[in-house]
Amino acid sequence: MIDINKLNEVIAAMELDSDQLKEIAQAYRQDMVRGLKGEEDSTLQMLNSYIGLPSGDEQGYYLALDLGGTNVRVLLIRLDGGSRYEEVKKLVRPLVTEEYNLINKESSPEKLFGFIADMIAEAVEGLDTEKIYLGHAFSFGSKQENIYNARLIKWSKEFAVPGVEGQVVNDLLKKALAEKGITNVEPNSVINDTVAILLAAAYERPDTTIGMIYATGYNACYIESYGGLKTPEIINMESGGFAKLMRTEYDARLDAMSQTPGSQQLEKMISGRYMGELITLIFNDVLPEGKHFDKVMTSIDISAMLSDDDAYTKTKSIIKEKAGFDACDFGASSLRRLAEAVSVRSARLAAAALAGAIWQVAGTGKIRPQHVAIDGSVYAYMPGVKENLLKALYEILGEDAANIMPVLVSGGCGLGAAIAAAIAE
Ligand code: GLC
Repeated sequence: MIDINKLNEVIAAMELDSDQLKEIAQAYRQDMVRGLKGEEDSTLQMLNSYIGLPSGDEQGYYLALDLGGTNVRVLLIRLDGGSRYEEVKKLVRPLVTEEYNLINKESSPEKLFGFIADMIAEAVEGLDTEKIYLGHAFSFGSKQENIYNARLIKWSKEFAVPGVEGQVVNDLLKKALAEKGITNVEPNSVINDTVAILLAAAYERPDTTIGMIYATGYNACYIESYGGLKTPEIINMESGGFAKLMRTEYDARLDAMSQTPGSQQLEKMISGRYMGELITLIFNDVLPEGKHFDKVMTSIDISAMLSDDDAYTKTKSIIKEKAGFDACDFGASSLRRLAEAVSVRSARLAAAALAGAIWQVAGTGKIRPQHVAIDGSVYAYMPGVKENLLKALYEILGEDAANIMPVLVSGGCGLGAAIAAAIAE
């Protein structure tokens, strides 16, 4: 039999009431303020992006590279101004397949960026321009000195390629381009994916203030106005690193087993890369002797379970495939309950962090009507996540939440990177 008491305890520990959410949102805002001042005890890095919001009139052909998740994308984009644009070409390739793995410890900068350079060559084939600028959406915490120069601080999302941390990533890309004899492509900018989707959304809706990625990884950026004392600038918060949270023993265990123990604590509780692992870890602990998930469940499995029928058809087939036994209704419904608890907690924690950022945007003033750009598979496809996030936002902000208009900007990363290249030029 499943240890149902233990399971219930874990599920209860994951529930967050409105007061707890408000406390988390306040703690998050406090870390934002501290992080901006460079204070050590903040768990938010608050990284400068060296870029503000676009005018919407940016124009021209640009290349965009989107590197940061399961797939790498290279796009050729024409910005037409007046908030209009067209994706002329788009290449999408996985970074991990059964034949190769470009993101693990066995990979190298040459392999990873060489692969990307080949895609770039394909994207510009037949294009007869002397020079085309490339905007690079590089979705890992990086320390920037200007819009071109971003050094990777530390990998996240289980990327582990040696020889990239501490390096200027665009230099690695340039080197790979040169080695492949690609002379007409010039990387001129690098931005985080959260910044990219904020730029993409603001190109069409100038009142967009926050960009959030809720996918393999989790992070957000916002436009910081410095109380009018400095030029507004987009700040990449590296929200996934927020660590002033109550973790369950399983969150701590998952963290300890990961490539980067101790870092990205919030991300490991809520993002697509980790939610499946978390439910696998917990469920294995409550299953009876002799029953065990040998294969790790994924966030796609969670989505399937959350949209299951009353006979638990999908959940049972996931159990069969990954643990090798035929589950009864009770077993399947228990797993589904766990999946739901993890996904609801995820959405509520994401909302708390978002509320903290909304307060910071408002400063000492009111929360004004504004758009919040969100992209990512968890937000877009995991059943209930959007609704739970919005509900939690109302619990924290009350009626002011009505001024927050979330927009889903699917695939906005490429557009944002092209806009960055245009602004940098
Ligand atoms: C990870 C990265 C961050 C990125 C996020 C979403 O948290 O550290 O830079 O924005 O994933 O892709």
